[in-house]
Amino acid sequence: MKLPEQIKALVFDAFGTLFNVLSLDQRLESHFGDQAPAINAIWRQKQLQYTWLKSLMNRYEPFSTVTSQALSFACEELGIKLEEEVRVHMVQGYYELQAFQELKEGLGGLKEHYKLAILSNADPAMLNSAAKHNEIDHFFDAILSVDSIKQFKPIPTVYQLAPDALELSASEIAFVSSNTWDVSGAKSFGLFTIWINRNESTMEKLGFGADLEINSLVELL
Ligand code: LAC
Repeated sequence: MKLPEQIKALVFDAFGTLFNVLSLDQRLESHFGDQAPAINAIWRQKQLQYTWLKSLMNRYEPFSTVTSQALSFACEELGIKLEEEVRVHMVQGYYELQAFQELKEGLGGLKEHYKLAILSNADPAMLNSAAKHNEIDHFFDAILSVDSIKQFKPIPTVYQLAPDALELSASEIAFVSSNTWDVSGAKSFGLFTIWINRNESTMEKLGFGADLEINSLVELL
């Protein structure tokens, strides 16, 4: 699959795109048994919602804090008691999330042709740790966190971090995400967008979609 000539860099979202949020199920299972998938689903949904709500409220807090608050909500919603040390252990899972299988092959090949970067809502410690844990950190020219401007995606200034750091124009950057709302945000900002649709999801109807849809990163090679 060929990208437009002008594309010089690929910028990746982190969670759901590079790192598999579902891999947290195992950690959750070890403590919560078969309630793990239900907790994880509400946890992720609330984590995202809270980033948007905090943006609207003008109350930025680091993603690690948001993640922790979202887990508290998920457990309370399901009537599960969450002890402090368990909460810390579960949130730590985000620092050690498993990367998708295809990445090492995919990123290695892409690096020969493009600058590569990550642009994520996560705080720098979380991002660097997850990348190191999976031994993929060396593929990236930049690991960018919204924490430097204390705003969350899909606020346009967040996507501007990529052209600034890579010293490229927006039209030279392809943004790669599995999160449909993130694809819309990046497209609305002006980036070329690639949607990794691993689960036959439905694209948002926000008026800004994907320029390219793929099922796996290796399709780009
Ligand atoms: C991120 C979340 C939104 O990495 O997936 O930015």
